[in-house]
Amino acid sequence: MRENDQSMERSGLILGIESSCDETAAAVVRAGGEALSNIVASQMNLHANYGGVVPELASREHLRNVVPVVRAAMEQAGISFEDLDAIAVTEGPGLAGALLVGITYAKALSFGVGKPLIGVNHLEGHIHAVLMEARQHGTTPMELPLLALVVSGGHTHLYLANMGEEGAWRYRNVGRTVDDAAGEAYDKVAKLLGLGYPGGPWIDTLAQRGNPHAVPFRFGRIKPRVHRDGSAQPSEAEENFDFSFSGIKTAVLRYIETHGMREGVDARRRTLAEHPEWGLRSEEAAALCDSETLDLIASFQYAVVGNLLRQTFAAAEVFGAKGIVVSGGVAANSELRRRFQSEADKRGLPVAFPSLALSTDNAAMIAAAAWPKFAAGKFAPDTLGATPQLRLG
Ligand code: KG4
Ligand code: ZN
Repeated sequence: MRENDQSMERSGLILGIESSCDETAAAVVRAGGEALSNIVASQMNLHANYGGVVPELASREHLRNVVPVVRAAMEQAGISFEDLDAIAVTEGPGLAGALLVGITYAKALSFGVGKPLIGVNHLEGHIHAVLMEARQHGTTPMELPLLALVVSGGHTHLYLANMGEEGAWRYRNVGRTVDDAAGEAYDKVAKLLGLGYPGGPWIDTLAQRGNPHAVPFRFGRIKPRVHRDGSAQPSEAEENFDFSFSGIKTAVLRYIETHGMREGVDARRRTLAEHPEWGLRSEEAAALCDSETLDLIASFQYAVVGNLLRQTFAAAEVFGAKGIVVSGGVAANSELRRRFQSEADKRGLPVAFPSLALSTDNAAMIAAAAWPKFAAGKFAPDTLGATPQLRLG
């Protein structure tokens, strides 16, 4: 009897494993809606020394971390492997060697404990981080279709998400970056300015001290084309919801060069390297930036967030989305959250973000995205491998 109670109570337990980039993560999630544990071992400090992720070092760190991280996730959840219903792992996109560590371990575990394996697209995971938390908070589910902006260090994508047959999610990729991802632009601009890595949180924090209208950075606007019949409503096919962030990075570089800021940048880089204890929110770090630098930072962020906002809301309108979901590392940005929320309120559209902990890479989102696949019996074949360029939609 007690055993029955327990199995009822514990149904839908999925262990998620994520190792696509520079975080080794494991989590246990119940029925896609309740995270029983969420462990993330970040390699950020290691890669910060190089100003970016070094793939070989990432794989080595994943190898070192995967076993203790999974063990910690199981302990925090208070369950044993026998209690699990399935094991989910990120199959791509990401770094080949890094992905392989998680996949190889997940396959061995799945075989060893006799639980089915589910392959999850990392980008779908980011979307499900938001859906899982909404379920966890008992929020009324958004109506479909949803428009999801996945915006991170490696990706800037717009997906129209809907439910297909048998409760399986379907995605249509309606916008993507043609060059750098938004987070990559944050990281590169922070580097150009002599700030720390990853650049997003530095720029987010320092932008609050600058004038966002000081430097008028511009993005090419998507102009709604007028139909031959004279109607102003653009057709989906004619709209372009792609992104490009390499231009603004070059514009920042040009600004630094033409405004004689190079020496200041080098001095700041040296001083920060000498004081690794100065966090990005410290007064000491802020004092290293003069008002011209703070204005440049604020203007860069204002332009990037404005571009993400315009493309997302324009796409939501054209595709008739009933709600917007923003996820990925850049979704942690405070200005982005504020401006998206205010635009959504103006339009009467619901918008949702993950908590800060689930904005960046984690495994709870992988376990949550695996739940509808589990319910639909979509398991991975024994041949599951890493797909570094895996697409969604
Ligand atoms: O999702 P994520 O952890 O990893 C990838 O899949 O890429 O995203 C990391 C990215 C980095 O580029 C980082 O600079 C950016 O997210 N990021 C931010 C903020 N926090 C992290 N960008 C802007 N504002 C933030 N507060
Ligand atoms: Zn990610």
